[in-house]
Amino acid sequence: MIDCHCHILPNIDDGSNSMEESIKMAKIAKDKGTKTIISTSHFYDTNMFVTGKKLEESLELFREKLEEHNIDLEILLGNEAYMSPELPKYIEERKVYTLNNSKYLLVELPLLEMPMYTFEVLYELKLMGIIPIMAHPERYTYVMDNPNLVYDFIDKGALIQLNGGSIRGRFGDETQRIANDLLNHNMVHIIGSDGHGYNSRRPVLDKSYSLVKEKLGKDYAEELFSINPKRVLENKNITIKDPIKIEEKTTFIKKISKLLKIG
Ligand SMILES: [Fe+2]
Repeated sequence: MIDCHCHILPNIDDGSNSMEESIKMAKIAKDKGTKTIISTSHFYDTNMFVTGKKLEESLELFREKLEEHNIDLEILLGNEAYMSPELPKYIEERKVYTLNNSKYLLVELPLLEMPMYTFEVLYELKLMGIIPIMAHPERYTYVMDNPNLVYDFIDKGALIQLNGGSIRGRFGDETQRIANDLLNHNMVHIIGSDGHGYNSRRPVLDKSYSLVKEKLGKDYAEELFSINPKRVLENKNITIKDPIKIEEKTTFIKKISKLLKIG
């Protein structure tokens, strides 16, 4: 498996807190079947976290340590870029890293409110030849209210990354429900761990892989955990299935059931 979303580099963002923790994360990822991780530390335009060239230095050091510990895990560089009207500019200035220097950029939106410039920025990225991969939309409250926003993202040329933990219920029932709805409507293209540490939110994908395989078949699981992520890091095109809109009636009934705590 290839993990396209992980905060594994030490002391960079809210992910790993030390080299020791990063090594432990790498070891468990490897033990649970991951062969490659793209490091996607947060990129905010507030200087809150380490960005730019320092990430390359950190990556080099981490690779050396992995070799010392005989952990055969490939680590590549990327970012999880927070939505901003300046995003196209940051890419041009090479302040933010696409996934393994490809045309694919992992894009994060706020959890509670979608910025009104979102679709405009997605359009600008498209004009630059960048393909946004929307990080974990199942976690956003406005997607829970209107899951077909994900259909609109895809319609505008974006791909969708789901968190493995969401499928397992790690972020609550509602997120799990949306994650399953998106999977069942051809609206997921990549599943990543979004691993943040060793003690919690580990960078492991084995259980989520098994769940997808069990529910939707091995071919779909392979596509989401291996084939599409490989095409990302090789900068190749990804052919997607036509997304299917989620019926309003279904979402309405589910919302009412949730309010009444039935079903
Ligand atoms: Fe993340």
